This record gives sequence, C-alpha cells and structure tokens, in this order.
Amino acid sequence: MKSTSYSNLFTAAAVVSFPFTSASTPSNKFSNRCSGLLQSFHPDQQTSVLVAEFLPKGSNFTNPSNHPSCAGGWLGSSILSDICRLRLNVTTSSTSGVIMEIWMPANWEQKGKRFSMTGNGGLGGCIAFDDLNFISSQGFATAGHNNGHDGDTGVPFFNRPEVVKDFAYRALLTATKVGKKAVKQLYSQSHRKSYFLGCSSGGRQGLKAAQDFPEEYDGIIAGAAGNNWNNLMSSFSYYWKFAAGGNNPPVLTAEQWAAWRDEALNQCDGIDGVRDLVIEDPRKCKLRPESKLCAPGKNWASDRCFTTAQVTFIRKLYEPFYGNNGTFLFPGFGPGDETLTSLWFATTAPQFTVDWYRYALLNDETWTVEANFNLDAVDNANRIDPYNISTLKDLSKLKASGHKLLTYHGLGDGLLTSETSDRYYESVVRMMGLPSAQLDEFYRYFPISGLSHCSLGNGAWYIGAANQYVAAPATTTDPEGSVLTSMVKWVEQGIPPERITGRGFTTDGKLASTKDHCKWPLRNTYLGGNSNKRNSWGCS
Ligand SMILES: *[C@@H]1O[C@H](CO)[C@@H](O)[C@H](O)[C@H]1NC(C)=O
Ligand SMILES: *[C@@H]1O[C@H](CO)[C@@H](O)[C@H](O)[C@H]1NC(C)=O
Ligand SMILES: *[C@@H]1O[C@H](CO)[C@@H](O)[C@H](O)[C@H]1NC(C)=O
Ligand SMILES: *[C@@H]1O[C@H](CO)[C@@H](O)[C@H](O)[C@H]1NC(C)=O
Repeated sequence: MKSTSYSNLFTAAAVVSFPFTSASTPSNKFSNRCSGLLQSFHPDQQTSVLVAEFLPKGSNFTNPSNHPSCAGGWLGSSILSDICRLRLNVTTSSTSGVIMEIWMPANWEQKGKRFSMTGNGGLGGCIAFDDLNFISSQGFATAGHNNGHDGDTGVPFFNRPEVVKDFAYRALLTATKVGKKAVKQLYSQSHRKSYFLGCSSGGRQGLKAAQDFPEEYDGIIAGAAGNNWNNLMSSFSYYWKFAAGGNNPPVLTAEQWAAWRDEALNQCDGIDGVRDLVIEDPRKCKLRPESKLCAPGKNWASDRCFTTAQVTFIRKLYEPFYGNNGTFLFPGFGPGDETLTSLWFATTAPQFTVDWYRYALLNDETWTVEANFNLDAVDNANRIDPYNISTLKDLSKLKASGHKLLTYHGLGDGLLTSETSDRYYESVVRMMGLPSAQLDEFYRYFPISGLSHCSLGNGAWYIGAANQYVAAPATTTDPEGSVLTSMVKWVEQGIPPERITGRGFTTDGKLASTKDHCKWPLRNTYLGGNSNKRNSWGCS
C-alpha cells in the first residue's frame, strides 16, 4: 500500500509556519474554500451538495457506497494527496439521478489545470474511488459517478427507462458537465484540458463519448471496451447454455480449468519465440483441446485427461457466437487466462445476461436464460438496443472535434476477449474509409500482451491505466510512457504515442519486466536477448 506519513506532514508544517493554526496558510485557504462549496456551489436546480470536505494527504477514507457489490471500488487505505472532496446529487429526470464525487487536488494549478472523468464496471453502479485517489494525486481534478444507480446490478433498471438512459450515456455526460463547473467554482478558473479514462464498462463509456459527445474530452482512454453491448451480454449466456449445456453439473472443475489453462499456454506460449507465460499474439494461437482427450479406459483421476464432452465444450469456447442466419454476433473467448473465463460458467446462469434481459430490455422478472434465451431473443435485444448502448458507431464526430482516442485491450483477457477491440478498430477503418495512417491522427489502439482484464496478468501489464493503481506495487508511480502520460503528451504537446510502456512485477512487488507495446496493427516481435527487457522486442 502507498505509504502515508503524518509525522512528516506535521513536522514540515510546524517548521515553516508556526504557529500552526494561522488561518492564512495556503492549505487553510484551500480547505476553507473547499468546505465553503457546501453553501456556494449550486450550478443549477438539479444539483445539490451532499459533502464538501478537505481531506489532507494520509487521511483515512471509508467507501460511502452502502451497496456490497461496490466494495471493490475502494481497496486503498488512505488519501494520497491534499484534496477537496465534493459529493453531489444530480437529478437527471423526474425518475432518475446520479450520485457523483469530484476530488480536487490542492496543487491543481501547478500541475496543469486538468480535469479527468473516470468510468464504471460491469452493470455498475459503483464509483471508482481508487482511480479518483490516484489520478487526483497526479494533479488532475478527478470525477466519478454511480452511473445512475447504486451497485453492480441491473435491478434498478426495472420499469425505469430513465435509469437505463443514465447507464447508457447520460450519467457520464451529466457528471462531466457538473464536474467541470465544480472545478471552476473551487479554483475560480476553468480547466485547461479534459480527459476520460475507464476500462471494461468504462471502456464502453469512453467509446460512447468518442462516438457521441467527443467535445467533452480532449483525450479519451478506453480499455477493454464492452461495446457491442447487447451481444456481449447475450454471449455469456450463449456459451453457458449452448456450449456448456447449462453447465449443471459444471463442465470443468476448478482444477480442470487450471489444467486446461496450463495446456493452452503450453500450446501457444512458445509461438512468439519466448516461453514466459505470455501468449504475445493470440491471433496466431489455434488451440487443440483434443490433445487432452482420454484414451479408452482412462479418466481425469487416473490420467488428468478430459472426456469427449469436455473437449467439445472447450473447442466451442473459442468459436464465435453466430445468430440467426449465420450473423456474426461476438467473438469467442481468447486464450491464456482460462481460470478467468471459468467465472462465466458457474452453476447459475450469468447474472449480467439475466439482469440485462429482465430489467433493461424486457421488464419481465420471470425471464430466465434456461427457458427464454435463444437466438430470437438476441435479435430482439439488438432491435431494442436501448439508447444505442451497443456503442458501435464510427468516429466521425471525434475526428471533427480534433480530440483523441486511445484504446487498449489485454491480450490475456479471459473475461472479455481482445478480439472485440480488434474488430471495432477494423469496423471504424471500413465505416470511415480511412486507413490506419489516417486514423492515427485521432484514434490509436494498443493491444497489451500479458495484461488480463483491465488489471494484473503474467506480463508487462501495468500501463498506468484505470483500475490498475491499487494492484501495482507501492513503489510504482505513473510511469513515463503509460497511457495517461502518453495521452497528455498527445493532447498537450501534439506528440502521439507510438508504443505504450508496460511493467510486470514479481510476486513480492519488484520490477520484473518492461515492454513497449506496439500500436495496432503491428505486433510485439521478439528480437532476441533477455525477454524481460524492452530492447529485446520490436514491432512488425
Ligand atoms: C486510520 O485508520 C486506522 C485503522 O482504522 C487507524 O489505526 C488510524 O489511526 C487512522 N488514522 C487516522 C489519521 O485517523
Ligand atoms: C437526491 O435527490 C433526489 C431528488 O431530490 C432525492 O429524491 C434523493 O433522495 C437524493 N439522494 C440523496 C442520496 O440525497
Ligand atoms: C433471417 O432470414 C429470414 C429469412 O430470409 C429473415 O426473415 C430474417 O429477418 C433474418 N433475420 C435476421 C436477424 O437477419
Ligand atoms: C440512436 O442513434 C441514432 C443514430 O445516431 C439516432 O437516430 C437515434 O435517435 C438514437 N436513439 C436513441 C434512443 O438515442
């Protein structure tokens, strides 16, 4: 965890400004201006201030969300820099509203006067407090919001289309506009540049912003984007019901999933020339589960081999999800982190699909995957596509705005395959009729080998991105070449990123590897030498 030092803070303060209670110290003025927002900040009829408090570096913070599924939004222990914390309630319609927070650092002016908005995850519902904490410690006034409902669940959508609208895009847009007003109120001046960063559902939010309201952000960073949203939600149940046969009893045990992951790595890890538990390019990996088929008379207990049914299931995992008339809907899972993939194959049907169909699409609490999920239901979902949540449009608005989009996706993402980001990129090429050299002006995509879903992984996964900060060792600060610093350079200095620097760590938190990940459509290519060193890799 990040170190905090109250003793240093007090010692330094006592030396430079005794008596300590002087009301004219800069930090006091900032804290007064901050708490004053409770009275002074009322930008419109829709917004009310719930909390305005100064939190000095090192102070404790408790996640204010009372929804148990939001516990993961705050794994940090203490505040990383002096901030003004504002918690707001913003009404979006007569039946909906957003709870948002904005953490505004005391050193904002010296640090570049930047605003940033963070994203949500899953069906969330949860403010990414760890992202707020880290990004505000980098000097950005950083906002987050609950996406129009509390918790990582779809229940609040039931018969409340305005709440679905908030989830699709309006909570983000509203919170961004209000957040910028709060910045102006506290610092008596507007931000210079505005950024967005989010992963997974947050990645979809970033793409949504890039497609529909790019004027709000000079730079958008969208990771592991869950766009093609309806088909993504359907895909979980497609594989659960039609590949795994309802998965009751489970098709593979946890031990068997781990064995299959090891076999998948065994088959594909070496293709790139290095055996390092990282499949550098999953596009080259064609798995053969038949290698684990039991010979007659053998079984898992005797030989750690799989039945024909299990082998068939595994083969289907990597095949695409096709709909009626053979329409492509969603790519199959990617290789290399099958223990993560296994999370979609619990004995009960995937909750994301159930919630999405029941509460957002159909308003029918009796709907079940077992009885009602089929390819016609999928067509219906795509017809409804509430508030264009599919997020599949081109980027002509972004291009016209002059703003920038950087996407990335972990090539070891066993939850949400990186192929969906490859496909979105290529669809933009086709829809806009622009080759990569021209998309490069405003849209760059970086596949990140060795990165799992948003955070962690076997390779140089740490790229200073959303949802990564608490998982990185305490010694890691935002590195040169990370996605955030790269985006700032692109926006503010006009220097576009050619590669994104990732770092990997040993289990005890020491730097193990560094890699400069290549820009799509180039691939990380092993040149020889120590594979943990950045110079051992090129792009081709
Ligand atoms: C923060 O919380 C920890 C654990 O509850 C406690 O030991 C510590 O004294 C608190 N620090 C402050 C500054 O309140
Ligand atoms: C937010 O405002 C709405 C509308 O005034 C109100 O119904 C709701 O209770 C408020 N929520 C909180 C957490 O204050
Ligand atoms: C599939 O083909 C049938 C018959 O041509 C057509 O009526 C239907 O609309 C098609 N469905 C989709 C999803 O394209
Ligand atoms: C979805 O997008 C289309 C095309 O931009 C637009 O015409 C339509 O109004 C949008 N629908 C909703 C519900 O926002």
